[in-house]
Amino acid sequence: MTSQLSKKGEAWSARFSEPMSELVKRYTASVFFDKRLGLFDIEGSLAHADMLATQGIISAQDLADIQRGLTQIRGEIERGEFEWSLDLEDVHLNIEARLTHLIGDAGKRLHTGRSRNDQVATDIRLWLRSEIDRIGELLAQLRGSLLDLAERNAATILPGFTHLQVAQPVTFGHHLLAYVEMFSRDSERMADCRKRTNRLPLGAAALAGTSYPIDRERVAKTLGFDEVCRNSLDAVSDRDFAIEFCAAAALIMTHVSRFSEELVLWMSPRVGFIDIADRFCTGSSIMPQKKNPDVPELARGKTGRVNGHLMALLTLMKGQPLAYNKDNQEDKEPLFDTVDTVADTLRIFAEMVAGITVKPEAMRNAALQGFSTATDLADYLVKKGLPFRDAHEAVAHAVRVCADRGIDLADLTVAELQAFSPLVATDVFDYLTLEGSVASRNHIGGTAPDQVTQAIAAARAKLKQ
Ligand code: ARG
Repeated sequence: MTSQLSKKGEAWSARFSEPMSELVKRYTASVFFDKRLGLFDIEGSLAHADMLATQGIISAQDLADIQRGLTQIRGEIERGEFEWSLDLEDVHLNIEARLTHLIGDAGKRLHTGRSRNDQVATDIRLWLRSEIDRIGELLAQLRGSLLDLAERNAATILPGFTHLQVAQPVTFGHHLLAYVEMFSRDSERMADCRKRTNRLPLGAAALAGTSYPIDRERVAKTLGFDEVCRNSLDAVSDRDFAIEFCAAAALIMTHVSRFSEELVLWMSPRVGFIDIADRFCTGSSIMPQKKNPDVPELARGKTGRVNGHLMALLTLMKGQPLAYNKDNQEDKEPLFDTVDTVADTLRIFAEMVAGITVKPEAMRNAALQGFSTATDLADYLVKKGLPFRDAHEAVAHAVRVCADRGIDLADLTVAELQAFSPLVATDVFDYLTLEGSVASRNHIGGTAPDQVTQAIAAARAKLKQ
């Protein structure tokens, strides 16, 4: 054995009679992507070394040397000066080799009572925890942007759709609040999966624990983990917390995708409900008139990519026997890309929503078409004593006549309306207006401007929690 861990094979070369093939070296290496965990690897190592020294497993001098060496390496990584080597396979062996190069034997004592199996599981959890927090903040920013837009449009009316057919008028503020609800549940899911992510695997060692008198509670406290993983075999092998995160991330993207679909539709000149600021759009290389909503389209597409990562991780875990298997090295790229995709998407959406221009006239004109207040007319007749099914039928007749004549229900005279039901009186027009329709839906979760204003206040209070 050489005195320093200068090449990967030298960490276990005594067991082998020939060097690893170059192809296999490249195939098994993960350093090109797991170097992203470098600073968390150092954080974990510092906590481990501190515990080893407190327990008398390494000396105070060793600890001081390790702290000095790891601090230097942290600086090198932060400044982009650290030289990552494929020969050293992964982030852990790279840092350990550099540490031993810097401080000698103390560096070789750092790995006492530890394996890369519990080390990598700890690193991913530390990294993911901080990313979950970042995504939580980005979700809050997006919810804030949506709330600002909803506030400005608490009383703006547009048609609400079912089956993409005009259904009933709704306020645009109310429509946007639907997405605030979705993203607020996404925030809850992030907070929830953080709980199961925030547990310490370190101490599980390779799989069976270690014979050294370690203090796992101390390491957990140093690293800010809520608790320690209770079974060593499970601690090094399962990645359910990462799968859970990807499932929550896939739901975020699903919500973004639904919203994207609406943005694309609303911005289509055929609909023209909104305009998205130029800085979020692109033109066409051939058609000079085009302004395309590329960002929402791309976000809609990237949803498939995140869903794919979720499937990749589920499939990766399926059928793995206890305990650690190298399969698990494949958890990182899908997880990293999920975080990057979701974080970028949320950031850009928070900004893009703040730059949306609403065109209330176009929304209103659309709501005036398609008999959006037909239900209100039926409800009016019910209030005058007609059973709902009969009211429904009477209005259906009226709609048919209007459709044939190319007019709206509100264009009929009282006398004409009375032909469908003698219960109609002059007050009917109060119910056939768009404003009357939305204002009447004045209950929790309803579309009335008053409710929207209250719901915005409640959502803002939740955002501050
Ligand atoms: N690079 C490895 C991973 O990401 C670290 C653990 C390696 N452990 C092992 N027994 N080969 O999973």
